[in-house]
Amino acid sequence: MCGIIGYIGCQNAADVVFKGLKRLEYRGYDSAGIAVIVGNKLQIRRSVGKLCNLEKELKRDPINSNIGIGHTRWATHGKPSEENAHPHTDSTNSIVIVHNGIIENYAELKLKLQKEVRKFSSETDTESIVHLIKKHYDKDLFKAVLKTLKELKGSYALGVICKDEPNKIVCARQDAPLIIGIGKGENFIASDVSALLPYTRNMIFLENGDVAEITEDKVVVKNIENSIQSREIKNIKWNAMQSEKNGYKHFMLKEIFEQPRTIEDTFRDRIYPDDGKVCIEEVKFKEEDIIKISSIYVVGCGTAYHAGLVSKFLFENFAKIPTEVDVASEFKYRNPILNNKVLVIVVSQSGETADTLAALRLAKKNGCQTLAVCNIVGSSISREATYTIYTHCGPEIGVASTKAFTGQLAVFYMLALDLASKKRTLTNKELKRYLKELWEVPLKVNKFLSIAETVNDIAKFFEHKKNFLYLGRHVNYPLALEGALKLKEISYIHAEGYAAGEMKHGPIALIDEFMPVVAIAIKSKIYEKIISNIEEVKARGGVVIAIAHDGDKKIASKSDHVIYVPSTDEFISPIITAIPLQLFAYYISVSLGCDVDQPRNLAKSVTVE
Ligand code: G6P
Repeated sequence: MCGIIGYIGCQNAADVVFKGLKRLEYRGYDSAGIAVIVGNKLQIRRSVGKLCNLEKELKRDPINSNIGIGHTRWATHGKPSEENAHPHTDSTNSIVIVHNGIIENYAELKLKLQKEVRKFSSETDTESIVHLIKKHYDKDLFKAVLKTLKELKGSYALGVICKDEPNKIVCARQDAPLIIGIGKGENFIASDVSALLPYTRNMIFLENGDVAEITEDKVVVKNIENSIQSREIKNIKWNAMQSEKNGYKHFMLKEIFEQPRTIEDTFRDRIYPDDGKVCIEEVKFKEEDIIKISSIYVVGCGTAYHAGLVSKFLFENFAKIPTEVDVASEFKYRNPILNNKVLVIVVSQSGETADTLAALRLAKKNGCQTLAVCNIVGSSISREATYTIYTHCGPEIGVASTKAFTGQLAVFYMLALDLASKKRTLTNKELKRYLKELWEVPLKVNKFLSIAETVNDIAKFFEHKKNFLYLGRHVNYPLALEGALKLKEISYIHAEGYAAGEMKHGPIALIDEFMPVVAIAIKSKIYEKIISNIEEVKARGGVVIAIAHDGDKKIASKSDHVIYVPSTDEFISPIITAIPLQLFAYYISVSLGCDVDQPRNLAKSVTVE
């Protein structure tokens, strides 16, 4: 939620900051702004709505400077408006800040500051910070920020500049991501790696409690007590092209089409079908640790939670470990039974989702073994979990998660098979069979994507429907939930995912010709059961779009439309059935003219509770 960026060097800061904001826009897009120092004055441009509005403002009234900060907002305190857009200044226009996070004690700070006759001009929690910095300012911005931080409660990634010290940016991090990019004669700050990739791959990931002073040729990191902290400079392997659309109309479409590669990259050097072996280097559980595991909790939000729901089938069927799956925001408040025999797996593309991070901390506090499944190297969750298995998906920019989901599934397959192999709950023959199936997944996804247009042809029949029901069973029940989530996220159409067997207990009352039903009907032990559910829908005048295995002749006579996918083992099938569901939602969203990559009200990385 919210993206911040800062630049100091010899390029035009407004350009660098604006281009960085474009790469951060997925984090929030209801308003944006930039501040620079020109001469010894602050210059600020802000506008409501998407970055194109800020761009117009910058064209109408350009600014040129070697130092600047910028922000793209997802509103928490105060509606999206120009007054509430960042950057925020103190009443004398000397100091200006950008902030990602929430200041929990802002109301009491505001009251105190107002009594000291400091004039507030926004409804944000952020504005209190800048007035406090000004109050403590005595010709040393860094010291004023240190004093201010001691009075703040809550989370922040902050970038601060001051017109009287135009050669430095001060930044600070507490429970919100912040990275320093190291260049030659120029330095950067940003909420994430992708904003800085066109300029540098050398980055410092700040830790909680870090405060840094950045000039064009020096970075000094200290803690809140003003003691120097040593932080490693990491070289990031991603390249800038991975954050571009590369000719695709939308990031989401590009990311859907990247899946054969991202799944393969996630498997590479980790699975060996011929030997029946899985080798996940990052996970260093000893066999005795694994034997000790009495149960697993898998915790995540949104799409990551759905990947977790699939993992339950894998851990229970392959490794015979009882598994519970929870939405992170529920897990942390429901007093789950946690101890050192419980393995808690947190799943998060960004590694920054506030609720998932809180769930991880709760698990650690209770002595659980912890493991993260993350896409972003150096993210908070990956740093705090005992072990992290990375999905090798590259940057995911579309707000609706696609390649991260199949990457998470890929990790769960490997992990469940690894545990099964160490616990000897599957024979070597079975392991080999499943691993061989996994190895073929990228090829099968590729094959399906070559006929993606058939999904578009079917989607055209349904673009004006107001409601959808998604049905699935067993390991594809979570996929029904995920398919429905994709559709509602990006096309604002009401959609519900249901376990097909539950249909008779309620949703069947909704069936008529206006309620299309997407039924995942791949070949499995319970294929006939889902066919019965389809018949029940048809008997009530419903319209069925079935997702079925290639060569399934029976299904065509039972459904109105069929999307055929390459056949695979039923446990492995979700990683393939995900693709038509993603495409179906995508094509409907495009035909409705919705903003596919940046759907209203959503943000990619939810860093507030
Ligand atoms: C937001 C995003 C979803 C994502 C969820 C969890 O809601 O819009 O696409 O699935 O957060 O994010 P995470 O980064 O923890 O996987």
